[in-house]
Amino acid sequence: MRIRVSVIVLGLVCGLSGWAKAAPDSAELATCAACHGAQGQGNPALGAPRLAGQHYSYLLQQLLSFKAGARGYDAQDSQGVLMRSALAAVPESALEGLARHYAGLATAESPTLAQQGSGARLYQGTCAYCHGPDARGNAHLQAPNLRLLDAAYLDRQLRNYASGWRGNAEQDAIHGPWMRSIAMQLGDTDRQAVVEYVSGQQAAEE
Ligand code: HEC
Ligand code: HEC
Repeated sequence: MRIRVSVIVLGLVCGLSGWAKAAPDSAELATCAACHGAQGQGNPALGAPRLAGQHYSYLLQQLLSFKAGARGYDAQDSQGVLMRSALAAVPESALEGLARHYAGLATAESPTLAQQGSGARLYQGTCAYCHGPDARGNAHLQAPNLRLLDAAYLDRQLRNYASGWRGNAEQDAIHGPWMRSIAMQLGDTDRQAVVEYVSGQQAAEE
């Protein structure tokens, strides 16, 4: 447990204002960087997604969910369990600062989405309603930007929702169950088509 005098003094000066928790702790950031990269760019080999440039409200909600056991709750979900344990030593009061830090990092410019193919039809007919026509998400709905994410991560999350490893209403009372009900309706072929489409890997077809 690290107690820093400057933070305590700031806390006294600012009372209950949001000031005291503005900047993330460098030791905490170094922990995150071990898996998510120094710039929050992600590490597909570890299954750690890109965080840089993701919506603040979404990042905060996910961190609170991991912390509360509303995500990463199934022992078979090894990556979710890994992330949940990474937060064990991080106090809840630090999560806002961490979410703000990663939301503020520059994101890679993503290519334009294709207009054709089965993935396009499925995406634009179902997913665009919440994730937006260009898949950059909707902060008010806490629907994440999908264009930041690699194909393997997207595919795994859709399978996790469908199997109940994520978004199970018993654990997650908020947004996960919405996404779970949608993922449960996606067959393997549709899931692959929509993942290829969103990640920009869709081969030219038709
Ligand atoms: C030991 C590796 C590891 C460490 C350390 C780690 N993470 Fe993660 N993180 C992961 C993995 C793996 C996932 C994907 C979990 C899943 O599949 O549900 C993840 C997922 C996340 C997500 C969800 C992103 C999304 O798009 O839904 C957030 C937010 C996150 N991590 C933030 C952090 C922060 C902040 C820290 C530092 C306090 C941190 N992580 C430390 C491995 C790690
Ligand atoms: C009703 C609104 C809604 C629709 C429609 C919707 N989503 Fe989502 N999606 C969300 C929300 C909200 C979340 C965050 C859920 C949570 O907290 O776990 C989410 C999360 C996700 C994630 C997890 C991303 C991450 O960073 O971990 C993926 C992948 C995803 N959606 C893909 C899709 C695809 C593909 C479709 C269409 C087949 C779709 N969504 C349709 C609202 C929606």
